[in-house]
This record gives sequence, C-alpha cells and structure tokens, in this order.
Amino acid sequence: MRALVLNGPNLGRLGRRQPEIYGTTTHAELAERCVAWGAELGLDVEVRQTNHEGEMLDWLNAAADDGDAVVLNAAAWTHYSYAIFDACAQLTGPLVEVHLSDPHQRPEEFRHTSVVTPYAVEVVAGHGVDGYRMALERVARG
Ligand code: DQA
Repeated sequence: MRALVLNGPNLGRLGRRQPEIYGTTTHAELAERCVAWGAELGLDVEVRQTNHEGEMLDWLNAAADDGDAVVLNAAAWTHYSYAIFDACAQLTGPLVEVHLSDPHQRPEEFRHTSVVTPYAVEVVAGHGVDGYRMALERVARG
C-alpha cells in the first residue's frame, strides 16, 4: 500500500525551527526515517512538504483519486483551513493526523481546533518525530 506523508507550512525548517518545541531532527532526516519505517511495515512511503496551500490541496485531491493512505501534518492550516477540511472529506484511503507537538496542550487558543480531526482515523500528537512512526503503524494496521 502507498502512504503519502504530507507536511504543511514551516515544517521544511524542522531542526532549525523552534527546536525546543519541534526537536532537532531536520525534515530530510524525518523523510528518511519515514521511508525506512514504511519499508519495515510493508508500506511504500513518499514524504512531501510544502508552504503553498494550493499545492497541498492538489496532493490531497490526487490522493483521493488514487485511494492512497495519507499521514497529514497540516501544521497551521490544521487550525483554520476549510479548503483542507473539504479536501480531507474527499479522501478515499485512511487519513492519520499527526503533530510533533500536542496542539491541545499549547497556550494559543487557535491551536485547540482541528479541521483534519473529523476525517482522521487517528490523531497522533505530542510524540515528536516518533509520532510519524506511530501514524504509519496505524496505516499498516488498516
Ligand atoms: C504542528 C502544530 C501546529 O499548531 C503548528 O502550527 C505547526 C506544527 C506540530 O507538528 O506540532 O506548524 O502541526
């Protein structure tokens, strides 16, 4: 089974971006680990990151057409993008929502809402990079 790991805005700076919150692993290292974890789980994993919402929507729409499983960290879009909400609604494969931090435990009120959660089979939050492994395990379990 193919699994797309899709990361949204500002996640390209992982490792340098607020490491006290998001850790020191870079996006390239995260991508490498996801591909290796996927191989162990029998998943063909592809990892992408974009700062452009339209590009993310195109990826989600293609995943809906292809029936791909999606592990989605929509980053800040999680909290306010109804276009992401509508795209998640169309997915035909399983969707797992992932966050490095736990948005519900953070002080900013806006992080306490997610447009992804209504369509996710599971939410993995607050486990750092390891959360992506947990999300891929959930996809592999079916
Ligand atoms: C995040 C949490 C979001 O609130 C934030 O906007 C991000 C990253 C996380 O992985 O912890 O950019 O999705």
